[in-house]
Amino acid sequence: MNRRNLAVLAALLSFSVGFAAPPVCANSANDLPHIVTENGRHAFIVDGQPFLVLGAQANNSSNWPAMLPKVWPAVEDVHANTLAMPIAWEQIEPTEGKFDFSFLDTLLAQAREHKVRLDLLWFATWKNNGPQYAPEWVKLDTDKYPRLITAKGEKWGSMSPFGEATLAADRKAFVALMTHLKQVDPQHTVILVQVENEAGTYGSVRDYSPAAEERFRAQVPAELVKGLGKQPGTWSQVFGEDADEFFHAWYVARYINEIAAAGKAVYNLPLYVNASLKDVIHPQKASTYESGGPTYNVIPVYKIAAPAIDLIGPDIYNPDYAEYVGNLDAYHRADNPMFVTETGNAALYARYFFATLGHQGIGFAPFGFDYTKYVNFPLGAPRFEPEDLAPFAANFKLVAPMMRELATLSFKGKVWGVSEPTAEHEQTIDLGDWHALVAYGRPQFGSEGPAPGNPTPSGGVLIAELSPGEYLVTGYHARVNFEPAGKMIGKHPQYARIEEGHYDNGKWVFERVWNGDQVDYGLNFTSIPQVLKVRLATY
Ligand code: DGJ
Repeated sequence: MNRRNLAVLAALLSFSVGFAAPPVCANSANDLPHIVTENGRHAFIVDGQPFLVLGAQANNSSNWPAMLPKVWPAVEDVHANTLAMPIAWEQIEPTEGKFDFSFLDTLLAQAREHKVRLDLLWFATWKNNGPQYAPEWVKLDTDKYPRLITAKGEKWGSMSPFGEATLAADRKAFVALMTHLKQVDPQHTVILVQVENEAGTYGSVRDYSPAAEERFRAQVPAELVKGLGKQPGTWSQVFGEDADEFFHAWYVARYINEIAAAGKAVYNLPLYVNASLKDVIHPQKASTYESGGPTYNVIPVYKIAAPAIDLIGPDIYNPDYAEYVGNLDAYHRADNPMFVTETGNAALYARYFFATLGHQGIGFAPFGFDYTKYVNFPLGAPRFEPEDLAPFAANFKLVAPMMRELATLSFKGKVWGVSEPTAEHEQTIDLGDWHALVAYGRPQFGSEGPAPGNPTPSGGVLIAELSPGEYLVTGYHARVNFEPAGKMIGKHPQYARIEEGHYDNGKWVFERVWNGDQVDYGLNFTSIPQVLKVRLATY
């Protein structure tokens, strides 16, 4: 038996003991990380098996060797399995044509020592609107590397997506990065790469330079018209009042696609973009958010313009329940794996880890996880000390030992997750033949009156179906009860058996049986990480 076959057998065996779902894809550990999609569901395959990114993103200027000693302790404290770290164009190509990958090499070595995977963030033509992270030879030469021109004819702080020299230079640098990475990372410490950062433009809906104007007057590219099922015409004819924004989105996405496709051609890692968001609940005019970026309304444009991009992730900095879940709904699509690419590091955001997994999330990567003492309050927490990251750490600690199992079940549509809303304190999860009734703020004993909710919303529940009627159930600050539904409706429910335990290398390890007080009023999850294997029955 050759080494590849042994790896396949080992993967199959590790999933055959104490775990009902077979592996999705038992590849060799040397296979490139990649995303698979089946029946509108997605799995992120790393080392041959579905993987959940339990991520932490460092602050923007932590991408220098001197900062790493302040980064790793936070990554360790939060129990992240992946660190998202900027790699700046100015850093790898300070002089045109001369590349310096010393930071990346240091980062790779230290990530391996810490047994953490990496998600590299390519900060180049766009880093939140502007070219701040482009090298000086690009930023200072606005003739060769043109800025966008506003409707009033003003030179703007955002790059023109029609700058051919800019695109060529960015693409060349990105290809150099991916070429180097391929050479120095045969073990795939880097599992994902983000291309640009929150691309798009604040303050001008699009570029009005002569090059842009010429294209704006032309016909909408046939590919886009066809892909969206529209009738041919000019941008204004096809898109009406959305024309400016959709035009900008198309050309920003095309630009990014050129870079991504060239990078993929040398090293085929999953590539993604992240979005500064348009409000999903309240109507907003294009001029009031970052135009041209992958906001929810232009996801279909990005999907057609940028096939080299594997996913679009929302950067969610609004802790409001409806907004947060609305964004999860908008970015979780049959053509788009759900990955919360950034979110606030304040405690209120931590509970959304559960709803993210419930949206078939392949990852959750809160922002600002290092001890460099920078805090992006009010987007994130007002301070960031080890105790402040505790709610995020609790989540990752809970899920890390079973993330392969959860990711595998999620790919089969067998995972549900909810987070505590603000106004309501009870939720129902439809599991098919059972409903899970979730209540927040109840004591562990008794159930007088309606659930009051937790003092601040902090609850979350995760349920995974192992086999019919058999579920993994976990969460924090929540009570779960089950009632028959579907074909079980009208029957009396009972617990056949409830085991507390944990996963260890693919095997369920039994700790104790829950019964009596521990189950009489429901399954109560507190701040203690507890995982239950629940077998439901009727009489
Ligand atoms: C979103 C950006 O993508 C991050 O790089 C960072 O600037 C945060 N906003 C704000 O801290």
